[in-house]
Amino acid sequence: MPRLGVNIDHVATLRQARRTVEPDPVLAAAEAELAGCDSIVCHLREDRRHIQDRDLAALRRVVRTRLNVEMAIAEDVVEAVLAVCPDQATLVPERRQEITTEGGLDVVAHRRRLAPVIRRLQARRIVVSLFIDPELRQVEASQALGVSMIELHTGAYANARTAAARRRALARLRAVADRARAMGLTINAGHGLTYHNVRAVAALPGVAELNIGHSIMARAMLVGIRQAVRDMVTLARGAAA
Ligand code: PXP
Repeated sequence: MPRLGVNIDHVATLRQARRTVEPDPVLAAAEAELAGCDSIVCHLREDRRHIQDRDLAALRRVVRTRLNVEMAIAEDVVEAVLAVCPDQATLVPERRQEITTEGGLDVVAHRRRLAPVIRRLQARRIVVSLFIDPELRQVEASQALGVSMIELHTGAYANARTAAARRRALARLRAVADRARAMGLTINAGHGLTYHNVRAVAALPGVAELNIGHSIMARAMLVGIRQAVRDMVTLARGAAA
């Protein structure tokens, strides 16, 4: 029965399209919480294309569940996150040209750069999660860095074009989640999850939280945030929708 984290970045994307004040991601967060989500997720990108520093400060004051900030390890972002002290920080890779976070963090390659940032965040009692592809070597490198939580990238599963490819991607997620659980890590999952494909991931043993943005916000445009989040909470928790 995974929890649901709702990513509100796209609310800010719409606002920034006009550089205006609406829609407000902080109000969206409050609506998502009223609908029963378990955490609010936002990504403070280096280019500030959607969430702004002031959003982060306001979210810190308003969020009543848990605030999970996705971030790269750029120094100004690290400082902004340390200043608001969210409950959780999820370290993600960031390339300026990408439309969204396209792959997991290469913890094996970047462990030396990650280690001091992880220590600084943990020193402020921020729970650190690493967003990684479902590969055992990435899980092992994450554990070696002293984090207690990982988020498995579900993009390969979500984007699979055939049923066989989807089954393979799901089997990989399951195998890696099993190993990570045996290592004592808390396992989250996310990226590309929708109302149509979420059930199989929600049913993976040991997955603690699903982080979902695009699909929820896309539906919210039609039915409102409360209904969209409520429906996803139902699916995430494994009840019939
Ligand atoms: N988890 C992480 C770490 C992400 O970077 C994103 C995208 O912002 C998501 C989950 C949510 O992905 P989506 O918007 O495809 O649901």
